[in-house]
Amino acid sequence: MPPYSAFGCTLQKEIEKMEHKILEIPLNDVIKIRHEVMWPKKPIDYVRLPNDEKGRHFGLFINNELVSVISLFIENSEAQFRKFATLEKHQGKGHGTILLNEIMTIAEKSKLSKIWCNARVEKSAFYEKFGMQATDKTFEKGGIMYVIMEKVF
Ligand SMILES: CC(C)(COP(=O)(O)OP(=O)(O)OC[C@H]1O[C@@H](n2cnc3c(N)ncnc32)[C@H](O)[C@@H]1OP(=O)(O)O)[C@@H](O)C(=O)NCCC(=O)NCCS
Repeated sequence: MPPYSAFGCTLQKEIEKMEHKILEIPLNDVIKIRHEVMWPKKPIDYVRLPNDEKGRHFGLFINNELVSVISLFIENSEAQFRKFATLEKHQGKGHGTILLNEIMTIAEKSKLSKIWCNARVEKSAFYEKFGMQATDKTFEKGGIMYVIMEKVF
């Protein structure tokens, strides 16, 4: 078992009651889930980000199985979350919501000014549930329209 480091917060207790556990985890464990969920047919290095080593990586476990991951990149007191992924067979069961809520709490408690992400325009309603709002910054990548969404603390 790798040396995962737990962090304390009230939500942690709630999550454990539900047999969920959220931990800060090593990059390599995140990479495996990203690869399996997002780009299984590409070489594993395809899912690495240039600044991955500087990120904080979190995972949600159910009965000790890592099922959902997300990475947080903090710069100038702003946090960007990226590469949010839940194993396909566990999607749509609320695990991603629990993990993202926890990331929001961590960002807020860390006295950051805001948290933001590049969201697919068609998925913006999902992020609005977390109190995020669409900015006027949009862009297109690979034929998909994205909007920068943020939550200012
Ligand atoms: C996005 C994702 C991490 C959500 O995890 P999850 O455990 O299924 O999350 P939940 O069960 O809490 O919520 C499911 C919600 O995810 C939304 N969702 C699905 N694909 C999504 C995406 N690409 N971006 C944002 N939200 C997405 C669904 O619309 C659903 O919202 P709804 O309940 O309002 O309809 C998961 O669907 C996933 O891994 N998708 C593939 C990878 C991906 O597209 N990641 C996001 C871009 S980096």
